[in-house]
Amino acid sequence: MDAREYRSILGRFVTGVTVMTVQTADGQRAGVTANSFNTVSLDPPLILWSLALKAPSLTLFRQSDHFGVNILAEHQQDVAMSFARPAEDKFAGVDTLHGDHGMPLISGAMAHLECRVAHRYPGGDHEIIVGEILRMTSSEATPLVFHAGNFAKVA
Ligand SMILES: Cc1cc2nc3c(=O)[nH]c(=O)nc-3n(C[C@H](O)[C@H](O)[C@H](O)COP(=O)(O)O)c2cc1C
Repeated sequence: MDAREYRSILGRFVTGVTVMTVQTADGQRAGVTANSFNTVSLDPPLILWSLALKAPSLTLFRQSDHFGVNILAEHQQDVAMSFARPAEDKFAGVDTLHGDHGMPLISGAMAHLECRVAHRYPGGDHEIIVGEILRMTSSEATPLVFHAGNFAKVA
């Protein structure tokens, strides 16, 4: 298996862009840009995403039974970029709302899903996190798109 070919082929699968957010009981927050997000089940309403085992934020995502999914809007490319690299406080300068289940939710996102962790599975060099949606809200905003390593717009 050639890693470059894997990235090149699978990177051309068009996705939206999310930032997964978490806040632990002692108030520590983490956020990770993720395009591994996908739907799993309608009844119960399940979604999944995967987080790299080497990601520093994994520790905080493992400490919480809940997480937030922020499906980014077209104008939030800068938000996608700032949550896509390790930083002391990625939330500095980012407007957030407080979800019903204690998760920080990013203002202006196309949609927010507040989830309870339903399952965690090993997934090679990633951890697969399956969440049950407890609450969701959305706006009319157009979603941000990711394709072949670049952000793109819905035509
Ligand atoms: C568009 C895009 C999608 C990404 N999707 C994922 C993903 O699904 N899972 C993942 O582990 N990292 C993904 N990353 C990389 C993480 O955002 C990046 O490693 C980030 O630094 C992780 O947060 P941390 O360093 O605070 O742990 C993606 C990056 C970009 C730009």
